[in-house]
Amino acid sequence: MATTHQEEHTKSIENPEIYWAKAADDCFWYKPCDKVLDDSNKPFYKWFKGGITNTCYNALDFHINSGLGEKLALIYDSPVTDTIKKYTFIELREEVAKFAGVLAENGVNKGDRVVVYMPMIPEAAIAMLACARIGAVHSVVFGGFASKELATRIDDAKPEVIVSASCGIETQKVIPYKPLLDEAINIANHKPGKTIILQRPMEKATMKPGRDVDWKDAMATAEPHECVPVEATDPLYILYTSGTTGQPKGVVRDNGGHMVALKWSMKAVYDVDEGDVFWAASDVGWVVGHSYIVYAPLLKGCTTVLFEGKPVGTPDAGAFWRVISEHKVKTLFTAPTAFRAIKRDDPNAELMENYDLSNFKALFLAGERSDPDTLKWAENNLKVPVIDHWWQTETGWAIASNCMGIEPMPVKYGSPTKAVPGWDLKVLDKDCNPVKDGDIGTLAAKLPLPPGTLPTLWQNDERFISAYLDEFPGYFTTSDAGYIDEDGYVYVMARTDDIINVAGHRLSTGAMEEILADHPDVAECAVLGVADQLKGQLPVGFLVLKAGVEKGHDDILKEVVADVRKRIGPVAAFKTATIVDRLPKTRSGKILRGTIQKIADNEQWNMPATIDDPDILGEMEQALIKIGYASARK
Ligand code: COA
Ligand code: AMP
Repeated sequence: MATTHQEEHTKSIENPEIYWAKAADDCFWYKPCDKVLDDSNKPFYKWFKGGITNTCYNALDFHINSGLGEKLALIYDSPVTDTIKKYTFIELREEVAKFAGVLAENGVNKGDRVVVYMPMIPEAAIAMLACARIGAVHSVVFGGFASKELATRIDDAKPEVIVSASCGIETQKVIPYKPLLDEAINIANHKPGKTIILQRPMEKATMKPGRDVDWKDAMATAEPHECVPVEATDPLYILYTSGTTGQPKGVVRDNGGHMVALKWSMKAVYDVDEGDVFWAASDVGWVVGHSYIVYAPLLKGCTTVLFEGKPVGTPDAGAFWRVISEHKVKTLFTAPTAFRAIKRDDPNAELMENYDLSNFKALFLAGERSDPDTLKWAENNLKVPVIDHWWQTETGWAIASNCMGIEPMPVKYGSPTKAVPGWDLKVLDKDCNPVKDGDIGTLAAKLPLPPGTLPTLWQNDERFISAYLDEFPGYFTTSDAGYIDEDGYVYVMARTDDIINVAGHRLSTGAMEEILADHPDVAECAVLGVADQLKGQLPVGFLVLKAGVEKGHDDILKEVVADVRKRIGPVAAFKTATIVDRLPKTRSGKILRGTIQKIADNEQWNMPATIDDPDILGEMEQALIKIGYASARK
């Protein structure tokens, strides 16, 4: 790709059909598409309409048929179980084809949904690829979510089968998954026909006869299943992500566009070639795990690393360097919070000296804003390019990045560089007018979105339109506020909705407020994301109690913390709440969240002109100081 970023970007915007048709030539199609971009039913655009393909074929069989079968496809590295297991493309296909057979035997057909609720083990990727092989639609649910969240997703996706494991391992804690799954199925209205459970040695799950199938038993007698041809526009997966309410949004990904965009991105964005070792240190439950642990590296013929561990504590802050050196990782992709954790435990990167990192060429960060301190720390110690790039569950791949395979550009700290080819990115004011360079507004992408993004929300076209397209006609809103400078560098500043980012995990404060408001003693509440040195943000709850409540405040606080953990899960990291007499509001009754947040974060704030009662802010500051925020942190 000996062109400039600017040239590539211009080509992709001026002639998207030509641009992406060329990228599609790199993939295998049983039948090429009739139309590269079908815009006959705006705002629902369809990429590669009429094309017939199979994503699993492209990820595995294609490479085997091209002679790469003996090369490594997947390395499972699990410091928490002291295991390293390697699969060639042939070995991985064997497992995937057999598990596809298991799914088929248990009633899963093309188009049926399969929920996958699993820890970071190869069987999670095998289950996903097996679904893709038979044209079933997987919906992976992150293991840190509680039964209630899992039940919500079960009711929306209505799976034929749920695939799970007896337990996950969090550093040293064994987390039994099966009781959480059983409870979720109890709560849910929809009941799956079967569940397929992988028994791990650290925890034996109790099985329900007639419903629960043992993974290993089923695999022992399974008939391998061939790839089932699917339409490019058929769904590959649904991935639920936090919305502004307790009801998550089911982001849909198609087969054709996803495959083309992800394979293209491996070279263009990450500068990775067939045979390279690529490691996304995330979780299969998040979009990063879908795109860059499972699909993109395999589509490109790379070796992917699936790591069941943490950046620190498994066993120490040298874990990432060990994995990089042991498996000759070329490119690592993780969230900044992982590097903040490493930096906190090993500020001088002394543990790095024990490892040979000579194969390591680049670090990519995403999932939350990369603070320049952490980015510079990584640059100084690793001595490779450190690339901040910006994307979302909805987009499936990067909206803005320094595209290392096109033209590496100078870094501007605090910016994920420029819009990636395919993205016609603008900054809009509230009337949908593009603002001047450097002015803040909402970052929005002009339609059509490039391939691999979300065509809609699962069985909810209306919500797709109302959540993403209504606010700025002709554009997709990212719900991120930011600006673009005179050189085209993008700056992502903050969400425009109630989404917060906790350790790179996307959470809705609105969903937490719904839970606090359900407590019988709570009259009113607010949850805000306050700055945290390790996790980026942490949720903090403010409660106003009903008149005459006699229960002890400490008990109420403990109960609401337990409620959030029970209903959303430990991943919410909701551990701090406080009781206040009243919440600061505007005269029209809106809670002044922005101002409270600034006070909590010790940032400069101005008295809002619309405030109902200015004294409340003083009270709020005192409440924040009591729980360790605001000026207490100076
Ligand atoms: N299954 C069950 N529980 C889980 C879980 C999973 N898959 N993932 C997290 N949890 C639990 C944790 O054990 C913790 O529980 P606790 O309250 O009992 O301690 C809680 O959820 C919060 O987890 P987390 O936010 O990850 O905090 P942590 O203190 O365990 O780890 C980091 C902090 C920074 C080390 C960790 O978040 C990390 O490695 N982040 C990397 C970034 C990342 O993977 N981002 C994903 C998007 S790219
Ligand atoms: P998720 O859907 O979990 O990937 O979260 C997406 C959100 O994370 C985005 O809308 C941003 O708010 C934030 N985000 C992701 N990457 C970046 C980045 N590089 N810089 C700033 N914010 C980011």
